[in-house]
Amino acid sequence: MKPQKSRSSVADLDTPAVTIDLDRVDENIARVQRRIEGCGLVNRPHVKTHKIPAIAQKQIDAGAVGITCQKLGEVEAFVEAGVTGDILVTFNIVGDLKTERLMALVPRVKRLAVVADNEVVLRGLSEAARRHGRDLPVLLECDSGFGRNGLQTPDEALDLAKLAAQLPNLRFDGLLVFPNTAPRTKGFFEAAVSKFEAAGVPLPILSGGGTPALNALEDYPMMTEHRAGTYVYNDVMMVHSGAARWDNCAMTVRTTVVSRPTADRAIVDAGSKVLTREQYYVENFGRVAEYPDAVVANLSEEHGMLDLSACRDKPKVGDVVSIIPNHCCVVSNMVDEVHGVRDGMIEVVWPVAARGKVT
Ligand SMILES: Cc1ncc(COP(=O)(O)O)c(C=O)c1O
Repeated sequence: MKPQKSRSSVADLDTPAVTIDLDRVDENIARVQRRIEGCGLVNRPHVKTHKIPAIAQKQIDAGAVGITCQKLGEVEAFVEAGVTGDILVTFNIVGDLKTERLMALVPRVKRLAVVADNEVVLRGLSEAARRHGRDLPVLLECDSGFGRNGLQTPDEALDLAKLAAQLPNLRFDGLLVFPNTAPRTKGFFEAAVSKFEAAGVPLPILSGGGTPALNALEDYPMMTEHRAGTYVYNDVMMVHSGAARWDNCAMTVRTTVVSRPTADRAIVDAGSKVLTREQYYVENFGRVAEYPDAVVANLSEEHGMLDLSACRDKPKVGDVVSIIPNHCCVVSNMVDEVHGVRDGMIEVVWPVAARGKVT
C-alpha cells in the first residue's frame, strides 16, 4: 500500500472523506517535539492515532526516538513499511499465538520493547524469548489512577521488577504509565523512584503518556520519555481538555448536506460509520468547522443530524461541510485512506496501513 501523490482540489473529493491538513500536522509534530525535548525527555509518539507509516517517519525525522504501538498488528504493518528502528508495544501480550508473532518481529526491529503488568504475561514473554534465543526489553505498566490495567502500588511494581530481572531472556528497562495526568501519578512515581533506589534496582526508563499531559510535563521531573498520540491530528476532546486550539486540529471529515428536512435540521452523509459515537467527556458528535454554532446532535450509521437552530447562516442541500471529530484516533480506524491537503489541493493519499489491525 503505497501513498499516492495527487494534485486535485479538495473540492473534487467525493464524500464522506477524511482529510488531513498537512501544514497543521507538520506544525503539531514540530511543536510537540520541541515541548518534549525542552523538558529533557525523549519523544516516543503513539502511532495508534494515525496508523500511517509515512506520518511516523515524519515524527522520527523531527527527532522522535522511535514509536509506540498498541497492538502487534500495528507493529507488523509499520515494520512491513520500513519503520524498524525502536518500537514499544504498550499492551499486555498474552498467549502463544501472540508471543510467536512478537518473536517473529524481534529480528526485524532494532529495538522492540514490550510491557507487562502481571506474572503470567512476564513468564510468557520470558519463555518465548528463551525459545527463540532472544532478549526482550520489558517495562512494567503502573496504574496511577486511570483505572485501566497496571500495577496498583510501587511495592507491586518493585516485586514484579525483581521477578523480571530473574526470568531468563528478559531485561527490566523501567516503568510506564498512562496518562500522567491521573491524580496519583506524581506520588506514585516519587515513591517508586525511592523504593527502587533503596532496593538497588535501576530504573533507566520512566515513560509517561497522553496529549493533555503535554501541558504538565514539568510536574513529572522523574520521567525520561513521553508518549503522546492524539497531538498529531487533535480533535474536539483535545480542544475541550485545553491541550489544543481549533487551529491545531488537522483531521476533518468532509461531508455533504443531503437533506434539509426542517428549517433547523440538516442531514449530512457522514454518520457513526465515519465519525464514530465516541464522546468520553464531550457533548454531541463533532464540530462543524464552517458553522461553529451548528450542533452535530446525533448520528445514525450513515446519517449525521445537524441542529442548525443557533446558526444565522445555514448550509443548503449540496453544500459540503467539514466536521472535526470528537476523537480522531478512532476515525483513523474507520477509513481505508486519508487525504493529505495543503492550500486546498490534495497532495497525498495515504492508505491507513494499520487500519483494523487490532490483534
Ligand atoms: C499506553 C498509551 N500511551 C500513550 C497514549 C497516547 O495518549 P494520547 O492519545 O492522549 O496522546 C495512549 C492513548 O490511548 C495510550 O493508551
